[in-house]
Amino acid sequence: MRLLGIETSCDDTAAAVVMDGRIAESNVLASQDEFHREYGGVVPEIASRKHVETLNAVIEAALARANRTFDDIDGVAVTCGPGLAGSLVVGVAAAQGLAYARDLPAFAINHLHGHLFANYLTDPDEPDRALPQTPFVCLVVSGGHTDLIEVQEPGRHRVIGRTLDDAAGEAYDKVARLLGLGFPGGPLLDALARDGDPRAFRFPRALMDDSTFDFSFSGLKTSVRYHLDANPEDAQTRAADVAASFQAAVVDVLCAKTLRAARALGVRTIALAGGVSANSMLRSQLRRLGEAEGLRVLVPPLAYCTDNAAMIACAAYYRGDLARVSPDELRADPNFAW
Ligand SMILES: Nc1ncnc2c1ncn2[C@@H]1O[C@H](COP(=O)(O)OP(=O)(O)OP(=O)(O)O)[C@@H](O)[C@H]1O
Ligand SMILES: [Mg+2]
Repeated sequence: MRLLGIETSCDDTAAAVVMDGRIAESNVLASQDEFHREYGGVVPEIASRKHVETLNAVIEAALARANRTFDDIDGVAVTCGPGLAGSLVVGVAAAQGLAYARDLPAFAINHLHGHLFANYLTDPDEPDRALPQTPFVCLVVSGGHTDLIEVQEPGRHRVIGRTLDDAAGEAYDKVARLLGLGFPGGPLLDALARDGDPRAFRFPRALMDDSTFDFSFSGLKTSVRYHLDANPEDAQTRAADVAASFQAAVVDVLCAKTLRAARALGVRTIALAGGVSANSMLRSQLRRLGEAEGLRVLVPPLAYCTDNAAMIACAAYYRGDLARVSPDELRADPNFAW
């Protein structure tokens, strides 16, 4: 089954062609970073209008790169939420039009399911990449979410922990702004932290006791702000140390909770998903600590960590009838919950 995926939940315009929920024949993404940079964050109105301008060309490019036409497509999968209302409706309207015009089945996909299912994808040149074996624990860590998920089987899962305030990616972006790093902050902070000492400053690690799988990152962000208020020269002279110490606090908490969840549930596989799973320290530390406990640690290829449409087509394949709707039932749902 070959599905066309469409993703426009935030500021990336994306389309992809995915075979059997596994092989991304194409994965095309038009970034809007250059249009939001001067504002230091995503401007919803601009995001929506840029999706309108770009989406048709992105879909055509996804078909062309896969060397396919609409005649080869068996269904259309689109992100219905969560996300920005004005962004979601653009993708949903396009999917609706295509499903009607080509008489194709439509799949209404939750963006977070997409992130999780990114672990099932592989590239055409890496066909032997291992598939996740259920049950497993997945840490979905992105710009808007930090959720620990117990996956009982593909398409059946439950949230066992979530952030009580800021998402980890949001904390990265806010601390990057405090350090004057620009937009988008997460990858820039990640790069800067490589030159810093993660033990230079001791920033707080919240909710580390055994009583909860929930997270909290707003105190950490505030602690970095207080540090920089008290030592303004550190934003220039010791920015790499601040970045590395902040990152160490985030990654310590994310790894500790994910490993503790695996122990508590008795599962042997843990997986990462979402934009922050592109983070170099998180990828390496979770791998190292997980493998030391004899766990299988799955980390999606980088292109499938941040927002993309291949993960949406993949989720549709695995969710099947749970996600299948008639085209007129497709609706943007900015608060679409797990
Ligand atoms: N290398 C990295 N290190 C740390 N954070 C990163 C890295 N790369 C991306 N991020 C962060 O990931 C986030 C973007 O991820 P993603 O695109 O999945 O989020 P989103 O789609 O906006 O939110 P959500 O998926 O929760 O709706 C941003 O906060 C960004 O700073
Ligand atoms: Mg996302």
